[in-house]
Amino acid sequence: MLATDAARAVASIWQARERIELEAAALFDGLAGQLADIGAPRALVTMAREAGDDERAHAVMCRAIVDELGVELPPLPPPDAAPLGPAGLDKRQRALYAAVAISCVTETLSAALLLAMNDRAQPGRIRDTVHHILRDEISHSRLGWALLAAERERGGEGALTWLSAHLEPMLAEAVSADVEPMFESRAERPDYSAHGVLRREQVGSVVREAIEQVIAPGLREHGIDPAAALRFAARYG
Ligand SMILES: [Fe+2]
Ligand SMILES: [Fe+2]
Repeated sequence: MLATDAARAVASIWQARERIELEAAALFDGLAGQLADIGAPRALVTMAREAGDDERAHAVMCRAIVDELGVELPPLPPPDAAPLGPAGLDKRQRALYAAVAISCVTETLSAALLLAMNDRAQPGRIRDTVHHILRDEISHSRLGWALLAAERERGGEGALTWLSAHLEPMLAEAVSADVEPMFESRAERPDYSAHGVLRREQVGSVVREAIEQVIAPGLREHGIDPAAALRFAARYG
């Protein structure tokens, strides 16, 4: 059992994750609608819907950790689901932008982070939760790559090149919304990685490697120049 201060510090990080999961649920719900709207393969629309349900289940699991820590935190308000991406994209581009941002980028970064958490978490509810969420996030990341493959099939070799100009802000947004709230940034704090809380120095290399080894090669394979993503990654680790 953690002392009160430690329990509060750990609970606040798990509440941040609960909020991230609720936001992810809203984003996948929105993506399912966008994909249906552009006539994407029906299997991918279903994957997006199911991902939304998974994210809601993840939020419940995060809240169960907060409760088990004995810390009382008020329920979170529903997330605001502002559409992703810059103005000026057409409907089809907006759906593709959202799929890359939510699925290829955010879910991949999230899975990499969870893998690092999984390595350090002590057995029990926290490790079981990390393990469960990790398994789902890996499958959520496949949706985006499958959509890019379908889009290239439809539009030809150069169909996705326009996305390369959007990679830098997309990654910056993903890291600030989904990675930064998940680690302890105060160096004077004890190490709570047994409770699923990574430290800043444990996170940089995770972000860098996920971009260099998974996201950039995946983008390149679909005809999207990953140079801006690699420049972004070089700031970390
Ligand atoms: Fe999730
Ligand atoms: Fe997910």
